[in-house]
Order: sequence, then structure tokens, then C-alpha cells
Amino acid sequence: MQFWIGKSLSELKAASLTSRLIALATLAAFVFFSLALAEEFPTGSEAEGTRSYDDFDTPAYCGSSCHTDFYQQWKQAMMSQAYTHHWDEIEYFELAVPHAKRDEKVAEVEAGCNGCHTPLAFLAGDVPPPRPEEGSRANESVSCDFCHTVTGFVGDTPYNFNWVSEPGDVKYGPRTKEEATESPNHEMAKSDFINTAEFCGTCHNEKSPYDIWVKSTHLELIEGPYYEEGYVCQTCHMTQGKLRSASMGNTYDDSWMHLFHGAHDPGKIAGTVELRINPDLNEVVPGEPVKFTLILFNQKTGHKFPSGSVEDRIVWVHVEARDADGSIYHLPVDKKGFEGEEYTIASDVLAYQDMGIALDDPDFEGVRREDVPIGDRIFRMPYFDPQGRMTIQQWNTASLGVDYRMGPRETKVETYTFEVPFEAAPGEMTVTATMNYRKLVKPVADFLEVPEEESEIILVNEHSTTVEVLP
Ligand code: HEC
Ligand code: HEC
Ligand code: HEC
Ligand code: HEC
Repeated sequence: MQFWIGKSLSELKAASLTSRLIALATLAAFVFFSLALAEEFPTGSEAEGTRSYDDFDTPAYCGSSCHTDFYQQWKQAMMSQAYTHHWDEIEYFELAVPHAKRDEKVAEVEAGCNGCHTPLAFLAGDVPPPRPEEGSRANESVSCDFCHTVTGFVGDTPYNFNWVSEPGDVKYGPRTKEEATESPNHEMAKSDFINTAEFCGTCHNEKSPYDIWVKSTHLELIEGPYYEEGYVCQTCHMTQGKLRSASMGNTYDDSWMHLFHGAHDPGKIAGTVELRINPDLNEVVPGEPVKFTLILFNQKTGHKFPSGSVEDRIVWVHVEARDADGSIYHLPVDKKGFEGEEYTIASDVLAYQDMGIALDDPDFEGVRREDVPIGDRIFRMPYFDPQGRMTIQQWNTASLGVDYRMGPRETKVETYTFEVPFEAAPGEMTVTATMNYRKLVKPVADFLEVPEEESEIILVNEHSTTVEVLP
């Protein structure tokens, strides 16, 4: 059985006043119908403990002799490590679980994290799951047989694991039985759901217990320019090309690659934003100002950049000048004066005090908000805890600050007014703008002893221009 009841609700909302009365009756019937469905096919938090691990095949079973290439691609993607990856383990066991035990308001996340990071453990009611080192089936993370037995979602917006899981002999995929080679192992059926962005959205949109959107990759896609042009998540993260989809199966020209490459692939991050910088004049006299204009164009993402775990990520631009003698001068960004701008310019303030709840240190003073050069522009959206302090704990997020991320195909303009110092050497001065990315703000990574790769600097792009410093 397949259903996807999202559409009718939004259509109903758009109904004219006169038709609303008739719609009301329909709505009552509809609500009844969807409640009945939700009961038959538990979704979201209702689904916890409704299945067992044995209902699902292991990825090794699917992949070691049949779907060999997809299996290897998946193993190299974060999808196969969503439960076992070091930072996930640290955040879940050191912060989320103890926090959930101390604060009734967020108690639900002890189970809830697993609804997206290890759905089989969640469905099996194995909460909290054994630590990754114990090698349990929770380690399968987001597995083949999980995705290929999802049949729809309940509600009008996909979020917080509101997928419907129907494990069994039928594996749902992109082709009909007639289009595909028959499988010696399982039944096959074409799914109209698995190829939608909404399928991915069931885990890539998240609301906190305070009802705040703390992940909105799917919502950003549908609000941006790509969705109506037919792009879905799969277009960019599961690109299509010629590949044999199973060792005894067909070679398709348009096979869906199981890449799921994102923040953990420096090549995917590289070039996301293009930079071009120019001065307002070519020759400058020391002591006089020159204004540099930096144009930034997001050419690559279908959603915002950064997206997803926005509370962890940091994207910033550093601009510096090098004179003819090799001396370096830092150019802080010109302020624009919008509300909340202080969160978009690097400083040495402290933040993340709410980690003290889980660490049982109510007086925890926090760590530095970021450790990038003071005055650099940051492209981010700050998350605030109930006390209004910046947080990396998305489940403890009660409000959001200014959204100064790069939208899909958006162009932003920054200026840097620079008074050339008297000590600058005469001759050519090179001014370089560099955009960098870190998956996790470094002071938090260092404090929680998260392995360095999570806070390494990844180059997004750079561009240089020159001015002539007159003697
Ligand atoms: C037009 C191409 C395109 C589309 C469509 C697209 N993405 Fe991306 N995505 C990218 C690129 C490029 C990156 C790397 C830059 C970045 O991290 O945002 C990325 C990064 C990501 C990341 C890591 C984000 C971060 O900053 O941690 C996630 C998660 C992701 N995509 C999921 C999705 C999902 C889910 C959808 C559909 C709702 C989707 N993407 C649609 C191009 C795309
Ligand atoms: C996050 C969900 C997800 C996971 C995990 C996943 N798949 Fe898929 N798979 C998809 C989607 C989505 C498609 C089809 C894309 C479309 O129709 O746009 C697909 C397509 C396929 C196809 C059909 C390919 C074709 O071109 O006909 C096979 C076979 C397949 N997957 C096997 C696997 C195996 C084996 C694994 C584990 C190693 C796996 N999948 C893991 C989402 C997933
Ligand atoms: C069952 C929940 C679930 C579904 C469904 C799901 N994802 Fe994810 N996805 C995750 C989780 C959890 C992570 C984070 C893994 C980590 O870093 O721990 C993730 C990470 C990603 C990333 C980032 C990888 C990186 O390198 O940082 C991309 C890209 C992505 N998913 C794409 C997709 C696409 C495309 C689909 C739909 C075809 C999809 N996801 C469906 C749960 C899901
Ligand atoms: C609604 C689904 C969902 C829920 C619930 C959820 N996550 Fe995630 N989580 C994701 C997705 C999707 C990503 C990948 C986003 C990206 O790559 O930017 C992610 C990323 C992460 C990351 C960053 C991984 C990395 O390597 O950078 C951590 C850590 C994490 N989640 C921990 C948790 C914890 C702890 C909880 C519970 C408090 C939780 N998540 C609840 C879907 C979810």
C-alpha cells in the first residue's frame, strides 16, 4: 500500500470562503481517514518500538554480492555512519541523553534523535541504543532496507521522521517490475514517493521541542528557484549515470548513484560560492582609503549554504592585503547595520553556556563563539537557547536569529574600506578574499574532544585583486 496525503491538506487551505463549508465536512472525513491511517501505519514518535530488527535485511546482505557498487558508495557516505560517526556519538551520549534526563521539556529527544540517525533502532524500541563500539544493528544507521521500504509520510509537511515504514518482501524503487530485471531475492514495486524531495525531507527538516525549525533543507529547496524547475535532492546528491545496479541485474544509462555527498566531502563544498573582488581605484596613496567590493555568488546549492546542521557549521570570509615587501594587513568587513549583525561578524565573545546542563555544571561560562579572525564576515543563522544565548544544541533551541546564509543562486555584496597604512611598501599590493568552511565551530570541537577532522578548515573559494601603492 502506498499513500501520500500531503497534497490535499494544502489544497484545502487554499479553498475559497464559499467552498469552506463543504470543505469542513470533507476535512472531518479526511482527519478521520488520516487518523485511521496513522493508527494503521504508525509514524513519527508513534512508531517507536513497533517493529523488530529482524523485519529488515542488513546492508551487507543487500550489498556484498548483489548491489555491490551501491553498497560501496553508501559505505563511503555519512548515511552509513549517521549513528557511529564520532561527533554523532559524542553529541548524543555526552550532551543529548544527559540533557533529556535533566530537562522534561526535551525528554523526547533521547528516542527522537534515533528516528533519523538509526531508524531501525528507533523502530525496534532499542533506546538508547548500545554504544557504536558494541557493534549492534543500530550501527547500520540509515540503511538500504530502511529507505527501500518507506512508502509515504503522514501530515502536510515532511519533518521529524514522519515517514511510514512497511518492511517486507517488496522493495520500493524507481522502476516498475517490467522495467527492471527480476530479482531472485525479493519482490519489486515502483514508488512514487522515494524519488521526491519530500522523502528526504522526512529527516532533513526538523522541529525542536520548542517548535522551532532547526533543520529546513527541504523547506529551503521548495522556497528557492530549483524546485519548480524540477530539481529534487536526488538530482544533486544521487546523480544519474551508466552503472550496473546489481551484479545479476541490468546496466541502466540513468542509474541512481548512492553518493549522498555533502558536508563531509571537501569536493562538494569546494566552489559552492564564487568570489570576485575589485578596488574602486587602481593607484592609492598611503593614508588614503580604498574601497574593495566583494561579490559572492552561490552557484551550487539547491538549499541555503550552510544548510542542515546550521547550529554547528561556520562559513566565513577573510580578506587580507599583502604589500610589495610581503607584509600582511587584515581588512575587517564594513558593517551594514542590520538587526542582529553582531552575530555575523567574528568576535571573541563566549557562547554555548547551555552545554553546562548536560555536563552538570550550571555555572559553565561557555567557550568562544568562534575562533576566526575578529572582524571577518560570517554567513550563518544563530540558534538561541531559552535564555537567549547562542547554542549548538538544536534540541534546546527556542528561537532563531538573523538568517545571513547564502541562498540558492543568491548574490551578496560586501565592502571593505581600507586605509592604506603609511608603512605599506610602495609597489603592487595584492588583496585576497578567501571563503572558508568548518563543519563544527572549533572551540566546541576542542572542548568536547571531537576529532580534528570535524573542525578542519575547508576552502570554499578565493579571489585576488591588486592596487598600486604610490611612494
Ligand atoms: C542544485 C543542487 C542541489 C540540490 C537540489 C540539493 N543539494 Fe544538498 N548540497 C548541494 C551542494 C553543492 C552542497 C555542498 C555545500 C553545502 O554544504 O551546502 C550540498 C550540501 C548538502 C548537505 C550538507 C549541508 C551542510 O552545510 O551541512 C545536506 C545535508 C544536503 N545537501 C541535503 C540535501 C537535501 C535533503 C536536498 C533536498 C531537499 C538537497 N540537498 C538538494 C547541492 C544540492
Ligand atoms: C537514504 C535513502 C537510501 C538509502 C540508504 C539507499 N537507497 Fe537505494 N535508492 C534511494 C533512492 C531515493 C533511489 C531512487 C532515486 C529516484 O528514483 O529518484 C534509490 C535507488 C536504488 C536502486 C535502483 C537503481 C536504479 O537505477 O534502478 C537500487 C537497486 C538501490 N537503490 C539499492 C540500494 C542498496 C543496495 C542500498 C544500500 C547499500 C541502498 N539502495 C541505500 C534511496 C536510498
Ligand atoms: C531516515 C532519515 C534520513 C532520510 C530519509 C534521508 N537522510 Fe540524509 N541524512 C540523514 C542523517 C541522520 C544524516 C547525517 C549523517 C551524519 O553526519 O551523522 C544525513 C546526511 C545527509 C547528507 C550529508 C552528508 C555529508 O557528507 O555531510 C546528504 C547529502 C543527505 N543526507 C542526502 C539525503 C538525500 C538526497 C535523501 C533522500 C534521497 C536523504 N538524505 C534521506 C538522515 C536521512
Ligand atoms: C528529523 C531528523 C533528525 C533528528 C530528529 C536529529 N537529527 Fe541529527 N541530523 C539529521 C540530519 C539530516 C543531519 C545532517 C545535516 C547536515 O549534514 O547538515 C544531522 C546531523 C547531525 C550531526 C552532525 C553530524 C556531522 O558529522 O557533522 C549531529 C552531531 C547530530 N545530527 C546529532 C543529533 C542528535 C544528538 C539528535 C537528537 C537530539 C539529532 N541529531 C536529531 C537529522 C536529524
